[in-house]
Amino acid sequence: MEKIYCTCVWTVFTVSLIIAQKDLQFPGRCPSIDQVKASFNESKFAGRWYEISRFPNRHIIGECVIIDFLKHSARKKDFEVHFLFTNISCNWNTSVKFELVKTPDPTLPSYDVYVNDKKEDIQMYILDTDYKSYSVIWGCFYNPRKQENTQRLSIISRNKVVNKGFCTKTFEILNTNGIDRQYLKIVQQNDATCGRNSGSKAAKVKLVVLMAVAMFCRKLSLNTIPQPKTTNCV
Ligand SMILES: *[C@@H]1O[C@H](CO)[C@@H](O)[C@H](O)[C@H]1NC(C)=O
Ligand SMILES: *[C@@H]1O[C@H](CO)[C@@H](O)[C@H](O)[C@H]1NC(C)=O
Ligand SMILES: *[C@@H]1O[C@H](CO)[C@@H](O)[C@H](O)[C@H]1NC(C)=O
Repeated sequence: MEKIYCTCVWTVFTVSLIIAQKDLQFPGRCPSIDQVKASFNESKFAGRWYEISRFPNRHIIGECVIIDFLKHSARKKDFEVHFLFTNISCNWNTSVKFELVKTPDPTLPSYDVYVNDKKEDIQMYILDTDYKSYSVIWGCFYNPRKQENTQRLSIISRNKVVNKGFCTKTFEILNTNGIDRQYLKIVQQNDATCGRNSGSKAAKVKLVVLMAVAMFCRKLSLNTIPQPKTTNCV
């Protein structure tokens, strides 16, 4: 029987997601985030998270997203963030690495984001977290010339399966901060669909099928698109 992964009503935006390789743009200035968070404990926040939903963005474009926050000790970057995600139809894993450098902002935990040593326009704010179940990660960049802002949003959980309380809490955080959630996309986290269950017989059969599909896809992609970086996720 299929488990229900999020019981609340998500409004899913489908049209532009087919080519969701761009960050989301909104007219006007960034919403003003006025939450004051007294302290943030990086060590407690570190570790494994699962992405439950997100705004389409140009870095993380697959399903089954696993996010590992690794704390750097005594190095110039504060966090190394490893994203592992899957293209389900082709059974590909892709990994992307962000490096985070804490900004002096005293109110919210906020970080400059580096991808391949290049600083991103959009910072990463940890809007809220209880460390043990949920967190809402967000960032915004205002372009005064175009008078529009670009936002990234990621709702993450320590668990692959979330409950209604999780959704209520995280939506409340979005509402408090004036963040429009209508473009949130649900991220698939079902183990079987993600090819993460190799225990059962059915899963093994599925894996073989997926691998065959993957080979086919690889063949196709050689002539069409650049081969994505694959990994076995460590
Ligand atoms: C942060 O969390 C770690 C791990 O839970 C704990 O050992 C440490 O005391 C915490 N630091 C502060 C300042 O609360
Ligand atoms: C998965 O990979 C295939 C083959 O490269 C590609 O055509 C498809 O758009 C990808 N799907 C997603 C959701 O990225
Ligand atoms: C992708 O990563 C998941 C999680 O680590 C793993 O279970 C799965 O076997 C990987 N799939 C491939 C095709 O490497």
